[in-house]
Amino acid sequence: MSDKNNNQTPSGEKTMGAFTFIMLFGLAGLLLVVAGGIFYYAYLNPPAEKETAESGTTTTPAETGGAEAGDGAVEEEAPVGPPPLAVLPPVSYPPDNPYSEAKVELGRMLYFDPRFSGDGSLSCNSCHPASDGSWGVSSPISFGYPGSTHWRNASTIINTAYYSKLNWDGGKTSIEKQNKGAWGGVVAGNLDSGMAEERMAQMPEYVARFNDVFGDQYPTFEHALMAVATFQRTIVSQNVPFDAFLEGDENAISDEAKAGYELFTGQANCIACHNGALISDDSYHNIGVPNAPGFTDNVLNQITFRYEQWAKGVTEEDYNTATEDMGLYYVTKNESDIGKFRTPGLRDACYTAPYMHNGVFSTLEEVVAFYNDGGGDHPNKDPLMQPLNLTAEEQASLVAFLESLCGDKIIVEMPELPEYAPWDMEEVSNR
Ligand code: HEC
Ligand code: HEC
Repeated sequence: MSDKNNNQTPSGEKTMGAFTFIMLFGLAGLLLVVAGGIFYYAYLNPPAEKETAESGTTTTPAETGGAEAGDGAVEEEAPVGPPPLAVLPPVSYPPDNPYSEAKVELGRMLYFDPRFSGDGSLSCNSCHPASDGSWGVSSPISFGYPGSTHWRNASTIINTAYYSKLNWDGGKTSIEKQNKGAWGGVVAGNLDSGMAEERMAQMPEYVARFNDVFGDQYPTFEHALMAVATFQRTIVSQNVPFDAFLEGDENAISDEAKAGYELFTGQANCIACHNGALISDDSYHNIGVPNAPGFTDNVLNQITFRYEQWAKGVTEEDYNTATEDMGLYYVTKNESDIGKFRTPGLRDACYTAPYMHNGVFSTLEEVVAFYNDGGGDHPNKDPLMQPLNLTAEEQASLVAFLESLCGDKIIVEMPELPEYAPWDMEEVSNR
């Protein structure tokens, strides 16, 4: 088409008179039709008047025609309700900790390095394995630092880059701060930051890499946190079939998954909370997840549980009597937030069993059955949680949809870790 128009230009010059004549009449006619249309449209749609009037000031018929019926109508029908599911945008890196390839590589080493735990036995990878696609241990409640247990399910770290706050209760406002708790927390890494710096100072390869990435004379704990956080921001879902479907590939997911998608956004109304690109509203709800079996009988669980009540600053009465993980309440201290947890995004959930903040469900089928019953019992349960009356077949298609959110397994190899070297007076004095 455009080629043809270009070709017409030279011959058009020869017949200028006739061309101009026709154009003038044509233009006048078109303007009349358009103006009539605008008038009619404005008359029928008073609320759209302002826009129509604005379009009327444009001079070319093409623009006027384009704006005439289309734009006003679309605006009036602006959809209400939760944001639709969408493909994830690229990760945005915080301005005070920008991406660099060398920083990611350093972060990858730190992620796998067990010397970032008090007794040198645990790395991030111990609880968030990079080798099976899960990025979160498969025990319902994570193990803890030797001699202790954790008290929650180890979250996957896939797509954590997209949440505004981290942890099941949103208690951490950045990945860097979360990781500080992970390395330093008594039921995780239990590592003193000064000791971490000393260990790094005595590994020449870390000294060189921190110097290269951050300009450090001696590696600092803060910079280690920045590097390991940058590595995590690169752990993002890959090749998710449902994303391909959203981008127009009709065959990317099965008919069963498509039926599940209908239910997800319709009768089952999962989209009320699991929405947008992350498939999470990045907010907090009480859906009535029951306590993990045995939680209140196991002494190691109870030691960590009471310790956490104290550490999170609840009242003495709560410390004495709490029987459940109170979730968002620890952050806000509002009673109405008791038992609210952050809505997880659902990409790659097929790799991250067991489910919920305490890993109480071991399969996606169990999760869907729980929702079909309207969730659990809790005084704070979200009113959105209602019995769904789904048939067995419909529940199976919801599971098929959840499976279509599973991309390629993200597997990252363990790098070769730096070795300790004896303190070298001469080298140090030259730094
Ligand atoms: C002993 C096991 C353990 C170790 C070691 C550990 N984590 Fe975790 N991690 C957990 C558990 C359990 C949670 C859930 C904590 C919560 O919600 O309170 C968690 C949560 C997280 C989250 C929050 C994810 C989200 O979506 O909110 C991130 C990020 C994370 N860990 C990264 C790391 C990194 C990086 C390291 C190493 C610096 C690390 N973890 C070490 C067990 C561990
Ligand atoms: C009222 C908000 C809400 C609605 C509606 C909702 N969810 Fe959830 N979903 C959550 C919250 C909050 C959690 C985490 C709860 C916890 O850990 O205690 C969760 C957890 C999950 C998990 C576990 C993910 C993981 O990584 O552990 C799956 C799977 C899930 N929801 C699927 C669904 C499906 C399918 C539906 C519709 C049938 C649905 N959700 C409806 C809020 C909601």
